[in-house]
Amino acid sequence: MIILGIESSCDDTSVALIETNSSTLSYSPSDNGENFVVLAEKTASQIEVHKKYGGVVPEIAGRMHAENIMPLIECVLEEAEIATVVPTKSGLLRNDSHFKPDVIAVTSGPGLITGLLVGVEAAKTLSYLWDVPLVSVNHIDGHVHSVEIRNPKLETRNQLVFPALCLIVSGGHTELLLMENHDKYKLLGKTRDDAVGETFDKVAKLIGFDYPGGAKISQTAEGGNTKAINFPRPMLDKGYEFSFAGLKTSALYWLRDNVNKQPTTYNLQPTTLKNFCASFEQAIIDVLTTKTLRAVKEFKPKTVIIGGGVSANKKLRNELDRQLKTIGSELLAPNLRYSMDNAAMIAVAGYYKAKKKNYTNWKKIEANPNWRLA
Ligand code: KG4
Ligand code: ZN
Repeated sequence: MIILGIESSCDDTSVALIETNSSTLSYSPSDNGENFVVLAEKTASQIEVHKKYGGVVPEIAGRMHAENIMPLIECVLEEAEIATVVPTKSGLLRNDSHFKPDVIAVTSGPGLITGLLVGVEAAKTLSYLWDVPLVSVNHIDGHVHSVEIRNPKLETRNQLVFPALCLIVSGGHTELLLMENHDKYKLLGKTRDDAVGETFDKVAKLIGFDYPGGAKISQTAEGGNTKAINFPRPMLDKGYEFSFAGLKTSALYWLRDNVNKQPTTYNLQPTTLKNFCASFEQAIIDVLTTKTLRAVKEFKPKTVIIGGGVSANKKLRNELDRQLKTIGSELLAPNLRYSMDNAAMIAVAGYYKAKKKNYTNWKKIEANPNWRLA
């Protein structure tokens, strides 16, 4: 099956074509699971534009998605046609029949309505014109399935075994979910206020890093003293809910009390900056690992998954994996390039819906910015 994935819920317009269990695979699919190969993918990031405003501006995001979506789809389809060139005894035979995928999978929520509308309208139009079925994918479901995309370098794949515990950490979401199968999730807890990525980005802004500053904080934190500043670990002892607004405020108060403010940002000396970033990052890692381990002990999942932009944080991945191993579990994390928003993960999540013929008619699909997975 070939699936066209479309993602436009935030500030990346992304299109991907993936193929599963087909004769073009150069290796055999395992007995109990699917193999996914990314045939072509293109993402247009809007970060350079939103950076100037210190965050995503929905109106601008919508316009840019609208400008980018069709050229990206065209580009990905062209690449895929090249991929269908087949060797024959007399040379290469180009398959010139008009290419169309078997299914279109589109993110229809949650996210910014201005972006979601663009992806959904494009998907609807193609579904109608090509007469190809459409599946509506939840963005969080996409992040969960990002761990299944084949890692071309390692020649390995991650196998989801249920029940699975999923920690989704991104700029817009912080959730712990228990996944019973590909379409049944139970929410264990989510953030009551800011998402983890949002907290990283807001604190990064205070110390003068460009939006989104999460990755810059973790780079700067390398080699820093994680105990230099004793930041709070909000709600550490309580269940599975999260709260990061207090940690953000405490970082602000520490800067206000200890560092000189330039016109817009706090100006830290290099060592202090390193220690500040390391201590702040550690507070977040402690909260996320403690709650994930608590859930593993209570629910005994067969797989533990991390997904979302913040899962690109290597220290978080390593620390979580190390701690999970001490209790006989281990972490499934996406290939780094699939931590961030991308359409390949939407296509993979869409595949499981298509397999069950869980289609949505193009006349009925709607963008839903508040779509809750559980
Ligand atoms: O999943 P994503 O691409 O978009 C949303 O759905 O929100 O996540 C983007 C978020 C941003 O907040 C960014 O700062 C954060 O992921 N992020 C990181 C790292 N890389 C990206 N946060 C901490 N450490 C990183 N290495
Ligand atoms: Zn995301």
